[in-house]
Amino acid sequence: MTFTDVMHDPLANKGTAFSLDERERLGCSAFLPPRVEAIEEQVARVLASVRAKSAPIEKYCDLSALQSENETLFFRTLIDNLEELLPIVYTPTVGQACLDWSRIYQRPRGLYITPRERGRIREVLRRWPRKPVGVIVVTDGGRILGLGDLGANGMGIPIGKLALYVGCAGVDPARCLPVMLDVGTDTASVRDDPLYLGLRQPRIAQSDYDALVEEFVTAAQEVFPGVLVQFEDFGNANAFRLLARYRDRVCSFNDDIQGTGAMGLAGISASLRLTGASLADQRILFFGAGEANLGIGSIVVAALRRAGLYDGDARSRCWFVDSKGLVVSARPGLAEHKRPFAHEHAPLTDLAAIVEAVRPTILIGASGQTGAFTEAVLASMARLNELPVIFALSNPTSKAECTAEQAYLATGGRAVFAAGSPFAPVTIDGRTHLTGQANNSFIFPGIGLAALSCRLRRITDEMYFAAAETLAAQVTTEDLRSGRVFPSAARMRTVAAAVATAVAEVGYAQGLAQQPRPAELAAWIGAGMYRADYPPLE
Ligand code: NAI
Repeated sequence: MTFTDVMHDPLANKGTAFSLDERERLGCSAFLPPRVEAIEEQVARVLASVRAKSAPIEKYCDLSALQSENETLFFRTLIDNLEELLPIVYTPTVGQACLDWSRIYQRPRGLYITPRERGRIREVLRRWPRKPVGVIVVTDGGRILGLGDLGANGMGIPIGKLALYVGCAGVDPARCLPVMLDVGTDTASVRDDPLYLGLRQPRIAQSDYDALVEEFVTAAQEVFPGVLVQFEDFGNANAFRLLARYRDRVCSFNDDIQGTGAMGLAGISASLRLTGASLADQRILFFGAGEANLGIGSIVVAALRRAGLYDGDARSRCWFVDSKGLVVSARPGLAEHKRPFAHEHAPLTDLAAIVEAVRPTILIGASGQTGAFTEAVLASMARLNELPVIFALSNPTSKAECTAEQAYLATGGRAVFAAGSPFAPVTIDGRTHLTGQANNSFIFPGIGLAALSCRLRRITDEMYFAAAETLAAQVTTEDLRSGRVFPSAARMRTVAAAVATAVAEVGYAQGLAQQPRPAELAAWIGAGMYRADYPPLE
């Protein structure tokens, strides 16, 4: 390897951390400043540079440039400063990064697969230089966070999710592949942006779309046998269809539906430790009847059935509201995936009126509708419940159904509140409330770590239960006391390791793990986690 090779390989580059001996071997002694730095010193410089920037998107660009140049340093900085940097590399800043993608784009990362690649996707995947790939996060940009169809600009999401696989769960970055299936975009303003980098065409027809996805999934399994495919931020209709098609066929999952489901169940379980009630005693009103909330509703129903309730009884605890109002059986043309949750009730559209009618103990928003939890809605929840449980899951922060401050103020500080994006602490009457981040980033990295470590053949519902139980158990009494029903982001790696162990246990119990079972599963999984140490120079 020459100095030029190494400097252009972000997995091999060490920058000022190359030792004198390595510099001699590379013939580059004079090309670097004379001082040899430890990685901790480099991290300090990166942090100083990031902190000197005021706009989060500038911090994002700074870190993204570092990732393109020196991945070990990027991940060491992230791993050692998760709480500070997750909001930059992930939600909420990643939302801005996607909106700005075609303006801030600098260097390629991952694969862009378009209808032009039809018939030769295998070849495209074979050319990917880092092998063997263990996990692919793929999007078609159809529903990026709560921001809608952003087309190829959605590439920030797979890249950000994979940064979390590495940063939070210690998955080896060399095994991660972000993929954008660019099938066009139906958002005219995105297509018409003169700097837009994606295909300038409306989304392709469903039959062509399905054929492209099928070729991609099949090729991925052939080229990277056993690879885990995480479907991310697909539009609603495609997401449910693809999940049904692939969940039992390949090692895959839909994070927005299944990952969010497990996260939501964990948050509810932790909240019930505060309210002292049981799951069967709850009436949950889901505002938004899309991937996220139907994912949570489905796993809640499954949990209630495991607790002994009949299906109908379990479903009677879950009520849904979509853009047309309360989801009721009499509504004509109700989508198939909402039908099991439709109740006999008069149609209602106003959320405050729906809250009064349904009298929920728990209100969960995943609608992408900023401010939908108005003061009247929050005040009703406070009047109906001593400790109203309120989750505003929509991302990024600008799309949250309410802010932490609004939730705590309108409920006199009694809300058990969590949100999809981070919120600063809120002090009311001298009491400070922390807000737990209700985000599937507590689930998917651990699932991925288990899948890769134990070479899982499939990701099953039982694994999601195990993940949810484990996440809920990771919420400490101290977290609860401070108002958090999710662990602190600083503990992400511990949580991911615990989730991975629990998921792997299920994998072994279900005969789905291809890796021989190690004697000490948790220790073995922990020992295999990537820690962002520089590799020896080859
Ligand atoms: P989706 O597009 O599948 O569903 C959105 C739902 O909101 C639909 O049922 C739609 O009818 C409903 N809706 C739209 N306007 C409405 C209105 N005015 N009143 C009531 N309902 C309305 O989207 P998905 O995947 O469910 O995501 C929704 C939001 O949840 C997004 O902002 C996303 O970022 C967030 N999310 C957060 C996660 C987390 O971990 N915190 C995970 C997954 C999604």
